[in-house]
Amino acid sequence: MHILGVAVIGCGGISKAHVEGYQALGQECEIRCLCDIYPQKMESLKQQYMLGNLVEVEDYHQLLDRKDIDLVSICLPPSLHCQVSVDFLRAGKHVLCEKPMAPSLAECDIMMKAEIESGKMLSIVSQNRFKTDTMRMKALIEGGKLGKVLLARVNSMWWRGSKYYDLWWRGTYEKEGGGCTLNHAVHQIDILVWLLGMPQSVYSVMSNVAHTNSEVEDLSLSILTYPGMLAQVDAALVDHDEKQEFFFACEKATVGIPWMVKACKQRPNGFLEPNLEQERELNRFVETLPMLEKERHAAQIEDVVQAVLSDRTPCVTSKDGRNAVELISAMYKSATCTHSVILPLESEDPFYTQEGMMRHAVRYYKKQQSVDNLEDAGITL
Ligand SMILES: NC(=O)c1ccc[n+]([C@@H]2O[C@H](COP(=O)([O-])OP(=O)(O)OC[C@H]3O[C@@H](n4cnc5c(N)ncnc54)[C@H](O)[C@@H]3O)[C@@H](O)[C@H]2O)c1
Repeated sequence: MHILGVAVIGCGGISKAHVEGYQALGQECEIRCLCDIYPQKMESLKQQYMLGNLVEVEDYHQLLDRKDIDLVSICLPPSLHCQVSVDFLRAGKHVLCEKPMAPSLAECDIMMKAEIESGKMLSIVSQNRFKTDTMRMKALIEGGKLGKVLLARVNSMWWRGSKYYDLWWRGTYEKEGGGCTLNHAVHQIDILVWLLGMPQSVYSVMSNVAHTNSEVEDLSLSILTYPGMLAQVDAALVDHDEKQEFFFACEKATVGIPWMVKACKQRPNGFLEPNLEQERELNRFVETLPMLEKERHAAQIEDVVQAVLSDRTPCVTSKDGRNAVELISAMYKSATCTHSVILPLESEDPFYTQEGMMRHAVRYYKKQQSVDNLEDAGITL
């Protein structure tokens, strides 16, 4: 059996979830190379996960010609995703790139072109798809058990302190690409589009109410229109919690994550009474569905490795990554221009490129201070 050789590019916060994911697999793959501009980051990752003898480089170009590398995990700041993915794809490597796919649609298209021309796989991280509750929700919606979806509400209600934006690449359109809409709500937006498809239009309002060392938004509210349905996406960095919630109000029931099922029927006067039979039926169906053995990064990495080994499409494709970036670019356009934006976003649109985005998007504050590394590298997922 061919063992897939893996390289991890960028050894910061999220790289640990990738290393754990590869290590949780059996003989299918082996981490052979690490890359980071800071040797001490490679060293500490190596020590923490007992990675043994592997190649460590400070410049990823040194890995492009290596024959023992088949698959690369890109765990770099967003502004580097496009160039590094394209270089590895052109060098004949499969790529799993962290979210967001890239800060702009133009870069997503360059990445997809390189994917097609190379014949290699490009997958984008969206680990929250790989959770039992998300899969159950998908089965309920797609199986028609809920009837038509009438209203969807998803949110990423997080709290981040001021120091969060001191890290050099965060808090600028140039390096991070955007704020909580692009970098946090991207998870919920990907799942929403995966379940319901792309909306016809979006109206967004954004602000930065609490993070003065950042150009980008820390608050973002969006309304999406679909035929016969509305959806709402909220993202915040000022809610004292770390919630990621989903609600789908449908013809037959409202279902949500954290998991809840509620169904109503009407009384003669049109007011509601609980429909317990319907709730029981939906819960019975959900209980017949398997629990995922692995979740999040470990599950997505397993999917990607199996996709490469069996030459099939991964669960999260580059088109999926692009869809999320397209909707988010439209959100930034809407918030900047204060009107609703019709999708798709064409290549002539000023918000298609990162340069256009940087020229037009609102800068809430000027980033004044920047540190190369934050003391505590631990992150929450
Ligand atoms: N899927 C998730 O839930 C999740 C969570 C956190 C971060 N992320 C994403 O992962 C990516 C990285 O985020 P992070 O929190 O790990 O950031 P980080 O700053 O902790 O790690 C990035 C690493 O890349 C290294 N680096 C920077 N430029 C480099 C270069 N040119 N060559 C080699 N190494 C370089 C840095 O030194 C750093 O160690 C971002 O795109 C972020 O949005 C995803």
